[in-house]
Amino acid sequence: MRYIRTIAAVSTLAIITLLIVSCESNTSLEFKRYYSEGAEIYQTRCQNCHGNDGAGLSALIPALNDSTFLKKNKNSLACTIRYGLKGVININGKTFDENMPAAELAPMEIAQVITYMNNSFGNQLGIVTMDEVEADLKNCK
Ligand code: HEC
Repeated sequence: MRYIRTIAAVSTLAIITLLIVSCESNTSLEFKRYYSEGAEIYQTRCQNCHGNDGAGLSALIPALNDSTFLKKNKNSLACTIRYGLKGVININGKTFDENMPAAELAPMEIAQVITYMNNSFGNQLGIVTMDEVEADLKNCK
């Protein structure tokens, strides 16, 4: 009886472990897909201004490595990319007051490029999904 219970416990544990592992690889697969698509969008749509290493351009174009800013403005990044940005912002302690043009990108592409940006240039902020972007785009000011 005891023996059977031990076997049952061990196999339950094994199943749970398997579930967790397969779940994790699903998420990281999705992350990888977002990230690599995002890299291409970045190269064609953002790199001209923000630079291939996200370092920006002196006093004109801000860097994309200020994780604190990216985290704080997490829910408005989709709007920034879709509709552009003007007005004074502070990045890495430097002030910018320039104009970023709107980018005609689909919600999926916006999610991918944010995922790329949020996990490059020293940022480690994880995935941003298309669903999140669609929700954020409903609240643009
Ligand atoms: C024509 C140049 C240009 C292009 C192209 C451009 N940006 Fe920007 N970006 C700017 C400028 C200028 C600002 C600062 C705007 C301000 O001062 O209000 C900015 C600000 C930002 C910010 C907020 C500040 C920061 O540094 O975190 C983010 C995020 C951003 N851009 C991401 C992107 C992404 C992603 C793309 C590509 C889809 C992109 N930008 C394309 C010029 C550009």
